[in-house]
Amino acid sequence: MVKLNRRQFIALSAAGAGAALFGNQLGQASQLLPQSSVNLSPLYQSSDGLLELDLEAREHLVNLGGKQAYLLTYNGQVPAPCLEAKPGDKVRIHFTNNLSQPTNIHYHGLHISPTGKADNVFLRINPGDKFTYEFEIAQNQAAGTFWYHPHLHGLVAEQLFGGLAGLFIVRGELDEIPEIKATQEEFLVLQDFSLDEGGRIFSSMHMSLMMGREGDLIAVNGKINPSFSLPAKGLLRLRILNASTSRFYRLMIENHPFYQIATDGNALNEPIELRELLLTPGQRADVLVKGDRQPGKYRLLNLPYDRGSMGMMGGGMMRGRGMMGGRGMMGRNDRDVPIPLATLNYESTVESLSLPTKLTSISVLPEPQTVRSFELNHGMSPAVGMAFLINGQPYRGDRLDTKVKLNTIEDWEITNTGVMDHPFHIHVNSFQVVSRNGIPESLPAWRDTVLVRRGETVRIRIRFRDFAGQTVYHCHILDHEDLGMMGNLMIDA
Ligand code: C2O
Ligand code: CU
Ligand code: CU
Repeated sequence: MVKLNRRQFIALSAAGAGAALFGNQLGQASQLLPQSSVNLSPLYQSSDGLLELDLEAREHLVNLGGKQAYLLTYNGQVPAPCLEAKPGDKVRIHFTNNLSQPTNIHYHGLHISPTGKADNVFLRINPGDKFTYEFEIAQNQAAGTFWYHPHLHGLVAEQLFGGLAGLFIVRGELDEIPEIKATQEEFLVLQDFSLDEGGRIFSSMHMSLMMGREGDLIAVNGKINPSFSLPAKGLLRLRILNASTSRFYRLMIENHPFYQIATDGNALNEPIELRELLLTPGQRADVLVKGDRQPGKYRLLNLPYDRGSMGMMGGGMMRGRGMMGGRGMMGRNDRDVPIPLATLNYESTVESLSLPTKLTSISVLPEPQTVRSFELNHGMSPAVGMAFLINGQPYRGDRLDTKVKLNTIEDWEITNTGVMDHPFHIHVNSFQVVSRNGIPESLPAWRDTVLVRRGETVRIRIRFRDFAGQTVYHCHILDHEDLGMMGNLMIDA
């Protein structure tokens, strides 16, 4: 497999087109790209233990499914460049903020320090400023699908909805399993957009912010309904990221089963057969599709999902594309019909591959030293008006909400007493789900984002390992996070 290192890539892109056109218009040159990124923006890989690149956030005119769109981009690309490193590698990102707003970068799911030049979400990088991120991927970092996106409180949803999100892949043990190695690998970055006539991002009204903004244009790797080839008899590995601000994806492949092999950034013990898969904002899933069906085309569909609504505040008005003011496709409401996201196409035939049996061995965390409760809801807050709350309070930068001790294990019991679903996310350390509404969770898995449905109580178990410092937990419907559903977490050494 041919892969470009950073220098080769820069040489290539300088040779011809702007980076956003890369692959579409370079024709010949795009064949130099590895299989895995044929459908994705260029790849930056570490070499000799170092992943180093320049990353610039700026508005840029991008071709989005045949439409010209002014999006917010990293290096002119939507989705952002895919970064790839290995455990033990150093990462150095020379970041420039050429947006008209302050921003910063969060490395979602990576087990790295939340302080200094690493995963520090309290940094504020002003327009025109530069900042060099520097950290090391730990030796104990699981191989998996991680991602990066802005994380400056109050602006997160807007900046993600503009397009700022990219994959951060860690290669490791999982990728070395022979059956996994033999798969054809594709990344699917799911994003939704809402554009006005002039190709500008449609700005949301307050009500749709409460619901969480959704766009009517769903893109996979910046394309509308792209095709992926599925080798007959072989295995296709889809590594899917929900990089949408608020939209949930309930995925199914029509008449075709698939097998989940990883949750968020972490392998499962063994493949699990699925008919459908729910991915909330922030979550990732690795799945294998086995080319053992009747050859043909199979659609990857997004099925309707009801994540609740602010019922008393406008009911039906809150739903669908009405609030976004977007294009009405013959009056269809996209909440009620399946939407094709991509097409899987049986093409070549390969030597018959079987599914891997054992992927990893997850050790279940022992009993916790501390148990805490968190209540998710929304309500009126004196200073802010309608806000999203954790334990009755909207986020405040200067308030410490939760103080834990490094190297201890805690259970967090998260109860959603509101009327909308909330995907709960914690930075730096991943966790295990212990139970839902008191019913023990049977699937051992590591996650960094877990759905807490309305009316539900989810108990998670987390060990605070390796890194001390302040970080956050929050709802990954990023409008909810921006409107207060976040807390400061201090991990004390
Ligand atoms: Cu993907 Cu705190 O976020
Ligand atoms: Cu995160
Ligand atoms: Cu929420």
